[in-house]
Amino acid sequence: MSLVYRKRASAPSPAHWIYDYYGEVAPFLQRVDRKLHVAPMLLLKTIEWSIYRWYKTPIRRFYGVKGNELIYMITRRCSDRCPKCGIWKTPERDDERLPVSRFIECLKRLHENLYQVTVTGGEPLLFADDVLAIGAAARDLRVPMIVVTNGVLMDELFLRRYAELGHGLVVSVDTVERERWEAFRGEAHYERVMANVQVARSILGGKLRVQSVLASESETDVVRVANFCAERGIPHTVQPYMDFGGSWHETATSSRTGPLACAARKNICVYPNGDLVKCFDHRRIPLAREPLGNIAEEDVIAILCKRRATEVSRLMKTCDLPCKQLSCNLPVVVEVP
Ligand SMILES: C[S@@+](CC[C@H](N)C(=O)[O-])C[C@H]1O[C@@H](n2cnc3c(N)ncnc32)[C@H](O)[C@@H]1O
Ligand code: SF4
Ligand code: SF4
Repeated sequence: MSLVYRKRASAPSPAHWIYDYYGEVAPFLQRVDRKLHVAPMLLLKTIEWSIYRWYKTPIRRFYGVKGNELIYMITRRCSDRCPKCGIWKTPERDDERLPVSRFIECLKRLHENLYQVTVTGGEPLLFADDVLAIGAAARDLRVPMIVVTNGVLMDELFLRRYAELGHGLVVSVDTVERERWEAFRGEAHYERVMANVQVARSILGGKLRVQSVLASESETDVVRVANFCAERGIPHTVQPYMDFGGSWHETATSSRTGPLACAARKNICVYPNGDLVKCFDHRRIPLAREPLGNIAEEDVIAILCKRRATEVSRLMKTCDLPCKQLSCNLPVVVEVP
């Protein structure tokens, strides 16, 4: 079988090659610390990109050392019932959850390729001990970790244990108005979450970030959250509203697409039952609708080396849907400083 792609009528245009090159090289160069190393690393990356662009090798979906992000949706269960999100409506059963040891095995197998592991949900802190176990493994493997939480269960004990691991924490806050809180979260725990955010700031310092979702329902609130964070020196990011099965509405930014290739192909995403996909919006790509495999049943590298995994990564290079704006799908590493 030829190792060279045959040219097809549906093959991407030269413009896509340029976007593809830029989308791979730009985030790579941002991770080069020393200025003197930029030119040689650019040359090496360009050679690597050219090889990977034209040849089918079993490991070509790995974009060089530390080029991938492992994202674990540890659960679909949640303490809250946010109208922006539908994940909480379909919680997994106990017997559907992957044992944490299997995820840690997967992390160990991949760690040389990872620049970050992200734990999200549902609400990850419903499984705080598992989150801390993953955090300890990530620290030992020298992989930075980020946990995305709604802040409800983020008590001082958890924060002190988490701080020892040196990882980042992202807390989701869409309003700082007490009277609007319950409508935004389905629960009346404004005081509790806001107090937890203050404690997190004092314990985690710059490792804490706040993230808000921009929808037509939250437009004015997001500005106030940004001001709240600025006054306290907390980094703040905004994610446009997408269809997560919720009932909020998009703003003009939500439907924006653009010329840059989606960077989600750097992602390796794991669902609570161990199913592996390349992006959590994979159902929009017909070939990627079914998971690529399950890490409870197969070795993660074997899953990523499947023919279909390669084909899905190739299709993602020209995928141009609004979901590419989500923070997990951006080409740059979203750092918690
Ligand atoms: C699905 S949540 C899971 C983690 C945790 N429960 C939380 O709320 O932070 C992950 C991130 O997605 C954001 N999010 C929820 N619904 C969204 C939507 N419809 N569009 C875009 N982002 C959304 C949340 O605000 C959070 O920052
Ligand atoms: S956004 Fe987070 S806190 Fe809100 S329902 Fe979804 S998973 Fe739960
Ligand atoms: S645009 Fe959306 S569906 Fe397409 S690869 Fe990116 S995240 Fe996945």
